[in-house]
Amino acid sequence: MTVLLTGATGFLGCRILRALLADGTDEPLHVLGRGTPAELRDRVEAAVSRPEIPVAGPGAFRRLHCHSADLTRPGLGLEPGERSRITDGLTAVWHCAAQISLTGDPVTLYRTNVLGTRGVLELAQDAPAAHVLHVSTAFVAGRRRDGRVGEDDLSDAHGFQIPYEETKHTAERLVHAWCRRTGRAATILRPSLLVTDRRVPDGLPDHPLGVLARFVENALRRNSDDATWARILRGEAHGTAMTFRIPGDPAGSLNLVQADYAVEAMTRVLAHRTGGAGVHTVHVTHPQDTPVALVKSAFEARYPGTTVEITPEIPDPTPLEAAVIANTTHLSAYTTQHRTYDRTHLLQSVDGLPDPPPLDVAYLLRAMAPEAGAAPAGAPPGGLTASTGPAPLP
Ligand SMILES: NC(=O)c1ccc[n+]([C@@H]2O[C@H](COP(=O)([O-])OP(=O)(O)OC[C@H]3O[C@@H](n4cnc5c(N)ncnc54)[C@H](OP(=O)(O)O)[C@@H]3O)[C@@H](O)[C@H]2O)c1
Repeated sequence: MTVLLTGATGFLGCRILRALLADGTDEPLHVLGRGTPAELRDRVEAAVSRPEIPVAGPGAFRRLHCHSADLTRPGLGLEPGERSRITDGLTAVWHCAAQISLTGDPVTLYRTNVLGTRGVLELAQDAPAAHVLHVSTAFVAGRRRDGRVGEDDLSDAHGFQIPYEETKHTAERLVHAWCRRTGRAATILRPSLLVTDRRVPDGLPDHPLGVLARFVENALRRNSDDATWARILRGEAHGTAMTFRIPGDPAGSLNLVQADYAVEAMTRVLAHRTGGAGVHTVHVTHPQDTPVALVKSAFEARYPGTTVEITPEIPDPTPLEAAVIANTTHLSAYTTQHRTYDRTHLLQSVDGLPDPPPLDVAYLLRAMAPEAGAAPAGAPPGGLTASTGPAPLP
């Protein structure tokens, strides 16, 4: 199987690439991304390498063919000769790259997520034997609050909370139109919020909960004097060193899905679908939502001196709360949605893969700070220091 992958330097794409490299073959893997081919190779190898889990086989990286490409450029910025070198013999196209900023500029989001998908589909057109896997998101359901979202549902009737959702919705429509026009087959994969309890090495893209936790930690640190910060970190001041409010529905929940499970499920979906025509859409979601109350408990376990109040309204926010509100509004709004996701296509396509276990406080604690368990009480947690700047939310 000769595969093309976009987004291999990203949080999800590098995990998909790890799985592809472990397929036990010597088939070429074409990677499209920004920078010169040499820079891209360095970034991809760094993203895929994990000291604790070696990439399959010492020669695995020899399979990689790195091509400079930019989703926002006409023809993805590829030279004509290069296009045919990439598409020759291609059997699968994984389109994983996207701009995922919840607060991003709508024009950049459109150019990357919509025009970029069009560019990838045009490239796939030159590879008649290739099956297209388009990575979308469960959040194409937009502002829909209730009910069970079907895997074949694709509606803009409820509107969208943010441009990111709308551009991913429009990209799915392009995939449908392309399949109708060409008679080709594509699979749309819709993960919910991805989460991992494995340490993400510094400088590599993190999962949304990790980014959020880092942001809140930095805001907490900036708004505390040294004595308060020490009490926040120490168990002795249980809940009394600082109380702060985060916007959201305290009785709400979020669909968080373990990235390891999501990647295994996605690769099985491809193995299951061969041939045919038209679009097959699959929710890569968790069967059970995670209560927001558990995320709150995990945060308080991480910082025993804090009490976190999740509340829909925050009158007269403190500077800390204002900073948190400015960066979490969109994520918080997801806690007010009570919709669920149908998983019929998923379960039909993953060949008996067991459902992931429910996320508990211990998992969430590791997801927020995988090194937390190793940090001595009262010491600044490893890797997260007072000087670490706030990270942008995805
Ligand atoms: N993370 C989640 O929780 C989540 C949930 C649901 C769905 N998804 C979907 O999963 C996919 C991957 O998300 P992710 O979390 O891996 O995002 P990510 O960590 O931000 O990675 C995004 C990837 O897209 C690439 N990219 C962005 N703009 C590009 C451009 N103009 N040209 C070429 N490549 C470009 C990035 O390359 P650079 O390294 O050069 O920036 C990077 O490889 C997306 O389609 C997203 O919508 C993610």
